[in-house]
Amino acid sequence: MTPDEKKQQVAKAALEYVVEDTIIGIGTGSTANYFVDALATIKHKIEGTVASSNATAERLKSNGIPVLDINGVDEISVYIDGTDESNRYLHLIKGGGGALTREKIVAAVSKRFVCIADDSKLVDMLGKFPLPIEVIPMAQSYVARELVKLGGKPVWREGFITDNGNVILDVHNLQIMEPVKLETQLNEITGVVTNGLFAARPADVLLLGSDKGVQIIK
Ligand code: A5P
Repeated sequence: MTPDEKKQQVAKAALEYVVEDTIIGIGTGSTANYFVDALATIKHKIEGTVASSNATAERLKSNGIPVLDINGVDEISVYIDGTDESNRYLHLIKGGGGALTREKIVAAVSKRFVCIADDSKLVDMLGKFPLPIEVIPMAQSYVARELVKLGGKPVWREGFITDNGNVILDVHNLQIMEPVKLETQLNEITGVVTNGLFAARPADVLLLGSDKGVQIIK
C-alpha cells in the first residue's frame, strides 16, 4: 500500500471512534483531510465539529459539516488528528502543517484523543522529524539562541505565518529522551507560544495504517 492508501485506511477506521450526537475535534494535515472526507458520510450523526485550523474549517464546511467556535463548546467527545511522529507511549511530534497551537488547544478540551497515521510515523525515539515551535515574531532571534543552548538547530520556516499570526522555528538535531520534561522546558522560554511535543497530554489511542491492516496501540 502507498502512504496515502494507509492514511485513507486509518481515516475510515477512525469513524468507529466517533461518538454520535456529540461535538468532534478535527485535526490538520493530509490524514485529517481523509478523515474529514470519511466523516462527511456520517455527518447527520454528529452535532458538529471544532477545527484545529482555518484550512480544516474550510474543508469541513465545503463538505457540509457544521463548524463551531471552541469558546462556545464545553466538551469535545473525541479529537481525531494525524501526527508527524509517535513513540510507543503515544507521545507525539506535531506541527508539520504549522497548526500545533490550535491542535493542542482542541486536544486539551477533548475527552479522548485518537491519533491516526501511516505506520512510518511510529519511531523508537522522537526527534528525527524537526520539532516545530510557534514563536511570537518579535522573539524569533532570542528563542532561536535559547534553542541552540539546548543543543538544537532551529530553522526559521521561511514565508510561513500561523493562523495565529506567528512564526515557526523547526528544531533539528534533537534526541528527545524525556518528552514531557522537554515540552515544559521549551514552553518556559519567553516568546514561545507552544511547541509541537504532545507528551504532557499524549494521544489515548494510535491507529496505524499498514499492509497488515489497521494496528491499534493504546
Ligand atoms: C499539522 O500541524 C500537523 O500536526 C499534522 O497533524 C501532521 O503534520 C500530520 O500531517 P499528515 O497527516 O499530512 O502526515
